Amino acid sequence: MSTIKQQITDTQQRFNDLLAAANNADALEKIRIDFLGRKGELTGLMQALKTLSSDEKREIGPLLNKLKVELEALYAKKKAELESGEYQRDAESKSNFDVSSYVPDKLNGSLHPYTYITQIIENVFMTMGYQIADGPEMEKEFYNFEALNIPGDHPARDMQDTIWLEMPQTLMRTHTSSVQIHTMQNTKPPLAIVAPGRAYRFEATDASHDYVFKQCEGLLVGKDISMSNLLATTKTFLQAIFEKDELVLRVRPGYFPFVEPGIEIDIQCIFCTNGCSTCKKSRWIECMGAGLVNPHVLSHCNIDSREYSGFAFGFGLTRLAMLKYGISDIRMLHNNSVEFLEQF
Ligand code: DAH
Repeated sequence: MSTIKQQITDTQQRFNDLLAAANNADALEKIRIDFLGRKGELTGLMQALKTLSSDEKREIGPLLNKLKVELEALYAKKKAELESGEYQRDAESKSNFDVSSYVPDKLNGSLHPYTYITQIIENVFMTMGYQIADGPEMEKEFYNFEALNIPGDHPARDMQDTIWLEMPQTLMRTHTSSVQIHTMQNTKPPLAIVAPGRAYRFEATDASHDYVFKQCEGLLVGKDISMSNLLATTKTFLQAIFEKDELVLRVRPGYFPFVEPGIEIDIQCIFCTNGCSTCKKSRWIECMGAGLVNPHVLSHCNIDSREYSGFAFGFGLTRLAMLKYGISDIRMLHNNSVEFLEQF
C-alpha cells in the first residue's frame, strides 16, 4: 500500500513540474492525456486501487479522489492562462497547414460508450469505498424474485416481463438487483457494492427498448444507515456522471418490494431551462429507483435487521449512457456500427 501512496505523491510532483514547464497547448494536451486521459496515470492508479483490500481502499480511495480534483483544477487554471496567448499562435499554424499530411482511410479503434460509462461509475464508487460485484445473468427464480420479496403471486412480477429458460425455476435476470442477494449471502456486513451488468426482458425492440440492456445495482449494509446517506451517495454519483456540481435532485415515493420506503430520484433537466424533448417538457429526468433495504430481504440472507440496515439503488445504465452521450436510439448502442462507435 505504501507503494501506491508513494505513486500518488510522485504523480502529483511530476504533474506539477511538467505543468510549470508547459508553454503551449500541445504540451498541455500531452500532460492531460498522460495524467488525466482514459489511459493516463490517474486511471492506472484507479485500476491499482481495485486490487487493494477493503481497508486499504478506504484509506487510499479518498487520497486518489483528492489527487484527481487537484490535478483537474491545476490543469484548468493552466489551460485558461495559455489560451489567452494561444489565439495568435493558432492563426500562424493554420497559415502553414499542410494538405499532404492527410491520411485517407485511417481507422482508429475506440472503446464502447458502455465501457466509458462503466469506468466512470466504477471509479466514483471505488473512491467512496465500494467493491465492484457481479452475478450470473442466467439466474434462479429465488435470486431474481423470491429473495427480493417478490413472491410468486406478487403483482410486481408483472412489472418485469421475464424471459424464462425453464419455468418456474430458471430465467434470464430481469434486473441486476439479484446481485444484492448473492453479495449478502457471501459477505458479512458492513458491505458496499455496485454491480453493473446486463439485464433481460421479454420486450419488442424499438428506439428506447431492447430485450437486453444494461443496469447497475448499488447496495450498502451497515449500522444506522439512513435515507440521507442514500441521497448523499446518489447525488455524488449523479454529479460525477453528468459532470455538474450544481445538480438539483427531486425525490418521489416509489414502490419496489425489496425496499421500504422506496423512492424514485429525478434530476432537474440539465439540457434546457424551460422544457425540451429529453425531459418531455417536464424539466425533470427520471434517474433511478432506490430505498432502504426491506428487512424481509435482509432476513432472506440471514442478516439480522435489528442490528443492520442498508440502502439499495438501481438505475438503467443504458438509459444514463443514452442521456449522457445524447444517443436517441438504443439500437445504435447494440448494433456495433463502426461509424457510430468511432465517435467515442
Ligand atoms: N430493480 C429495479 C428495476 O429493475 C430498480 C431498482 C429500484 C433497484 C429500486 C433498487 C431499488 O435497488 O432500490 O426497475
